[in-house]
Amino acid sequence: MDARGLARSVRVVGSSQGVLALRSAWRRRRADAVTLPRQRGERARVPGRVVGAEERPGGGMIFFERSSLRVRIAVGGAVFCGWDGAGPEPSYALAGPAPEPDPRAGLEPDKDGGWRVVSERLLVTVSRTGTVDVRTPGGVLLRRDLPPRWWEPEPAADALSLPGDEGAAPPGDGAPGARWLQRAEVAADARFFGLGGRAAGARLRNGSYRLWNHDPGPFRPEQDPLYITMPVQLTVADAGTHLVFHDNSWDGRVTLHEGTEGRGSGHDRPGRCEVRMSGGPLRYWVIAGPPARVLHGWASLTGAPALPPRWALGHHHARWGFGSEREVRRVAAGYRERGLPLRALHLDIDHFRGHRVFTVDRNRFPDLPGLAAELASDGVRLVSIVDPAVKAERGDALYESGTASDAFVRDAQGREVRGVVWPGETVFPDFTDPRARKWWAGLYAERLEQGFSGVWHDMNEPTSFAPFGDPTLPRSARHALEGRGGDHREAHNVYALTMAEAGYAGLCEIQPERRPFLFSRSGWAGMQRYGGTWSGDVATGWPGLRASLSLVLGLGLCGVPYSGPDVGGFTGSPSPELYLRWFQLGAYLPLFRTHSAKWAGRREPWEFGPEVLAACGAAMAERERLMPYFVTLAQLAHRTGAPYVRPVWWQHPRDRALRDCDDAFLLGDALLVAPVLEPGARERRVRLPRGRWYDTATGEVFEGPGEVRVPAPAERIPVLARAGAAIPVTGPDGGTELEVWAPAPGRTGSGLVIADAGDGWEHADPERFTVRLHGGEPVVVREAGGPVGYRVRVRS
Ligand code: NOJ
Repeated sequence: MDARGLARSVRVVGSSQGVLALRSAWRRRRADAVTLPRQRGERARVPGRVVGAEERPGGGMIFFERSSLRVRIAVGGAVFCGWDGAGPEPSYALAGPAPEPDPRAGLEPDKDGGWRVVSERLLVTVSRTGTVDVRTPGGVLLRRDLPPRWWEPEPAADALSLPGDEGAAPPGDGAPGARWLQRAEVAADARFFGLGGRAAGARLRNGSYRLWNHDPGPFRPEQDPLYITMPVQLTVADAGTHLVFHDNSWDGRVTLHEGTEGRGSGHDRPGRCEVRMSGGPLRYWVIAGPPARVLHGWASLTGAPALPPRWALGHHHARWGFGSEREVRRVAAGYRERGLPLRALHLDIDHFRGHRVFTVDRNRFPDLPGLAAELASDGVRLVSIVDPAVKAERGDALYESGTASDAFVRDAQGREVRGVVWPGETVFPDFTDPRARKWWAGLYAERLEQGFSGVWHDMNEPTSFAPFGDPTLPRSARHALEGRGGDHREAHNVYALTMAEAGYAGLCEIQPERRPFLFSRSGWAGMQRYGGTWSGDVATGWPGLRASLSLVLGLGLCGVPYSGPDVGGFTGSPSPELYLRWFQLGAYLPLFRTHSAKWAGRREPWEFGPEVLAACGAAMAERERLMPYFVTLAQLAHRTGAPYVRPVWWQHPRDRALRDCDDAFLLGDALLVAPVLEPGARERRVRLPRGRWYDTATGEVFEGPGEVRVPAPAERIPVLARAGAAIPVTGPDGGTELEVWAPAPGRTGSGLVIADAGDGWEHADPERFTVRLHGGEPVVVREAGGPVGYRVRVRS
């Protein structure tokens, strides 16, 4: 046990659940030791030489001495590569059936005995030893995947894949113990992003990143992995941008090395990326193009991001330890009396009876539906935490009903797997079982009856407290995996994703007229279909503030656009300055929520002195003013996959200085937000993308690209508007108006409004506007013709 393990042990064992947790950790270790195969006597296997090929829709099968590779280009341009017989399905990431093959993509012989698949957008070449190159139609190399390597416990002696073998089980396919490794090369100038929620990003520095969802406890930016890991990686280089997704939920590791350039000497060292997985299929997708097209392709493959209800785009206040209805009312009144627009209050596990999910402690919360109705009349919704672990106790209604539905995870001997979470000894629903999902989905009716308008999934990595070892279920625990059967090694990373699927389906079924509001601490590729996420237990401190932005940016590039931090951090007591800077950043992030631990200091804006209160009030007012813009961004994310919060290189991925800049972000196309991430700063440097920008507070004009200094007084963080932008905002009368920033001479600008009635499913048509200069004055024109329909306010 290392020092951290020891500290964890003291923390957990010192609590009332310590003995239970210790017992459960021993049980987990024993179960895994007895059940899981040892990796002994393995031999490495490589594909060998090419022995043939066959054309298939969208590409073909290429056969090697000891493996086979399927290359298929889908309609829309995504490339699928599957080794050893792996096909695109089954997959937890895909939103539906795999996209149709592109009928125009065909297989052709390439030089030196290799093969190639040519499509309109990409060229894929496969060498005779299994190196796969993906190039732009112009022939520029985006990535080179070197021949993979497998280690199998019992290698098939001379398994030979021959033409026509596709249907037969090839070596390694379905052999859960087969580890594999694939190395790839990218351009020397490439930068890496993604891999889920990484606190040290958004640009991922050289290092090794584990793919195993994990509850680290209160975390600092250098801690890895965190709650959401995804084998989704975005590479941005002069040659182009591409996303690669290894569709495999097993434990793994991605090691990244940025390349170095020989500065014209011809001695560039390529960037390198190595993916090692402990089992599961070797299959991956590549999507290439400009960033917006890549994210659109990713959303087409894995699903449109859920559209949050309009109220969820306002300010939320959460607290572990409200403790009573009285305290909830006190906080709501605090916001109301100070004229601070609050849209939601979140109740944590302390409102449950004995921490049991789907219950209410009626002594402290005697009338939740009444409280919810009272708050709703003030425009404040209630959101409930939902943990997956169920108290394992005979007679407990939830436990009995789950047992009757055979919903809980079992071990290899058929016994319930027990862990320890807040209620004590618990069992865990197997969300990879459609029957368990159905059972769980029905439980949300109770939450709606209690008056909740949304849910907050927590502890679903899944976490089971442990003084040593991995704080989750035994790897040998059995899972249904949609009837295929398997164990926790495969199911772990999709546990929260499938829990979200169940919750989302339940909310849709119980309340079909409303869009669900759901966000989840853990998840995997495709989780955006059901909702968003938050930063988890980010430790209070300036590094945590910076990590908050990294997480939102990185998750957005993995297709999860709705997220945000615990404003103020989860632990301790932020200084007034840190709290304020966090709050000011949070006001421009999709999920704008204050939250903290039970033992942490207060997080209400009025607890930090009158200056902080005034500045927080201004930030909240600005958030409300920008509501029509946030609504439009939410709709855009839903329709195109483009995150609300985008890296500054979004439209200029070839600008290398922008690629390295992750201390600012674009909010949609129109705004560039430069949060203050350091103590004492009263101005900051901002790297601008090309074009003209206005400081929205001072009106000062800047020309990008380049770096500028802008004032950052305590009352606000710098926000710049793109010249030519027409931004939908709330006007003084409460209606939507267009705030217009003059285009640079000789240029035009644009704006977009997508309205949203609230929380139903109505479809709104986008309204597009063009901004032109006329006699030096900006003029707005509706692209579809006719009157503009909104009041226009020129800001420059
Ligand atoms: C861990 C979550 O990350 C945190 O937000 C929550 O307050 C606690 N669990 C208690 O439910």
